[in-house]
Amino acid sequence: MPYQTLVQQAFVKHFDYPAQGIWAAPGRVNLIGDHTDYNDGFVLPAAIDFATYVAAAKRNDHRVRVVALDLDGQLGEINLAEIRFNTEQMWLNYVAGTIQALLTRYPQVTGADIVVSGNVPLGAGLSSSASFEIALLKALSSLYGLTLDGELAAKLGQSAENDFVGCNCGIMDQFISAQGKAKHAMLLDCRSLDYQHSPLPDGLQIVIINSNVKRGLVDSQYNARRAQCESVARALGKRALRDVSMAELMSNKDKLDEQALLRARHVISENTRTEQAVLAMQNNDIAQLSQLMRASHLSLQQDFEVSTKELDGLVAIVQDVVGERGGVRMTGGGFGGCVVALVPDDLVPLVKTRVNALYPAQFGLVADIYQCTAVDGAFSL
Ligand code: GLA
Repeated sequence: MPYQTLVQQAFVKHFDYPAQGIWAAPGRVNLIGDHTDYNDGFVLPAAIDFATYVAAAKRNDHRVRVVALDLDGQLGEINLAEIRFNTEQMWLNYVAGTIQALLTRYPQVTGADIVVSGNVPLGAGLSSSASFEIALLKALSSLYGLTLDGELAAKLGQSAENDFVGCNCGIMDQFISAQGKAKHAMLLDCRSLDYQHSPLPDGLQIVIINSNVKRGLVDSQYNARRAQCESVARALGKRALRDVSMAELMSNKDKLDEQALLRARHVISENTRTEQAVLAMQNNDIAQLSQLMRASHLSLQQDFEVSTKELDGLVAIVQDVVGERGGVRMTGGGFGGCVVALVPDDLVPLVKTRVNALYPAQFGLVADIYQCTAVDGAFSL
């Protein structure tokens, strides 16, 4: 059954009246440019054809009720007059945080009944939480006739994470979920929020491989990495690592501790690779794109230290098949999650066969393989 029908029918079942509409927002995969967004740098994500779907209707009593179909139909309730962090239903904090952020701009929002479901794999690094936030914002914006655009929605979603959930993430995930474009990746300048849609190369498929090593941004060392990056920028008297060149970093290396230096070296080199990757895509220079993705993976593994042996293993398996005709790297925050590969059409079956044969043998885990297409964001249409 399509998710639209699923959430619509579940809404009637749980709340005994019909929803006023159905809204959705996609997950994302990042082709290159990881751990650069919160350093005011560059990213190159695409919105993918996995989404979070929301059926919703207005309430006028300052209450929000949410049914999460993918979490055994759990019901969560929020009192808008007194929004509190919920330690029992962690998932509900994404709703509470999003609505709290929305209310700072639009106090006229007086509640909602909501049913949510979707197929963005949870905790896999494909932005299930950002897609939930953006789907909620799209729904509430439509229900209340708000003048909310994609950029503001992305900022509010990020604020839900930073100011409520406790994850100091950057803006990439929410921004691409809101503003992506079908068949394109987006080069986003995370400081100015200027962006450029860049067509994905013909003849390459986006293949995402889930290592099935579960990750949790908040529990992981994500916030610690961000703090390290910011401390280097501060030590060099700069606003962000975006403003530090590799030469400047290296000439100041005696001032910095060894680990912080590696973290910064990743960010600065990754910004350069990301800008080069867009040019490579535009020139259809797949060998160059391949090398940039490979260098990005090594940098995330060795300098930023956010890869895992399972992700490294998957990258090696895929790299061996695609060579310079495609690219592969870990994607997103790391500490588990997925690798992203750009695979020539004719090699997709071989990538799948090799991963299915070798990954379980090497790591005792089964990978999930998703062949994806780039889609429009929730606010792009
Ligand atoms: C997570 C965060 C993003 C970004 C990536 C790493 O997905 O939510 O803001 O920092 O990690 O690139």
